[in-house]
Amino acid sequence: MNRYYNPVHTIQGAGCLNCLPDVLEKMQPKNRRVLVLAWSEKVFEHTVFSKLSDFEVKTVVFEASNPTVAQLYQCYQETKEFDPDTVVAIGGGSILDVGKSLCCMYGKEISEEDALREMIQNKEFGCPKVRWIGVPTTAGTGSEVTCWATIWDPARDAKRSVESKENYAYAALVDPRLTEGMPLKLAVSSALDAAAHGVESYWAKGTNCVSRALALQGIRIIMNHMEDLLSEKSQAHDAMARGSMLAGLAFSNTKTTACHSISYPLTMRYGIPHGAAVSMLLAPLLQMNAQSVDGMPELLDALNVTDANMLKQRISSYLIRSGQPDTLRGWGVEQEALSHLAELGMTKGRADNNPVKITAEKIKEILESVY
Ligand SMILES: [Fe+2]
Repeated sequence: MNRYYNPVHTIQGAGCLNCLPDVLEKMQPKNRRVLVLAWSEKVFEHTVFSKLSDFEVKTVVFEASNPTVAQLYQCYQETKEFDPDTVVAIGGGSILDVGKSLCCMYGKEISEEDALREMIQNKEFGCPKVRWIGVPTTAGTGSEVTCWATIWDPARDAKRSVESKENYAYAALVDPRLTEGMPLKLAVSSALDAAAHGVESYWAKGTNCVSRALALQGIRIIMNHMEDLLSEKSQAHDAMARGSMLAGLAFSNTKTTACHSISYPLTMRYGIPHGAAVSMLLAPLLQMNAQSVDGMPELLDALNVTDANMLKQRISSYLIRSGQPDTLRGWGVEQEALSHLAELGMTKGRADNNPVKITAEKIKEILESVY
């Protein structure tokens, strides 16, 4: 059965952040209180903020990447008295994930960090009373068009998901001008994360015909512009913003699969950037899943490769040329840790969404293949 639903108003193109005042008006916020969460103080120098005088605006900088339960709770404590109608999150996936998570928290009495942890584990979000707008400044996560947020819990050695179908953004403003200053490493790892969203959406057990069409187009745009991105050509940013948004729309309805599942402990334990961790796993999973994926020729065509080996070489080249290791050893992972990492890589809702059944033993083989 093919079902697809995504209610986010998507606005994409250079300069589209200037639409923010109009978008806020359309939301008809009762109290006109807007919390703007951004990754850096310099974001607030944008001229659009001088056009928000009809709103009561509170600005907050959230600098951490891979946000933790503790950091999310602290941000909630610092902002709940402001009682916003709308959260505008401007930044990479971490900021967007914090912004959307806060919407699930306002209006609830959350007395301490453990109460938040319990709320996330029990998925007690209800219908959020606050809406949000996502403004990505990296082209990769797709968080602006999905209804879940990744929140890390190193105190419990776990990755948690704040997830509610009631919590899609009101709008996503995908402005490639905001991604132009990204360091090359971040730009490449973000682009490869987006390509993985497309690939995993295409072959996910829960895929559908709309997601597959969006995925193929997103993958094609991203892979056709990787060389431009590595040469730091400015047109690459518009392409990556479009490709990542399309891949985000694709996986918003399918979730990801084994690559993401296996990557989480690599990021949590070793700090491997999310996109780099996921992309190293793409080729071995392409090899493993190949016989079970309908439309493999179309997928290979979109990736612009003939097989998994060619994909592995190409991704290695992108990582190395952007100054990032292409092996687990290069990222400082100890070989004796692979068995435990394999067990941690069985993430519920992701590992079991892979078209081929994976086990800890299979994950260990995959990790060895990229060691
Ligand atoms: Fe991702």
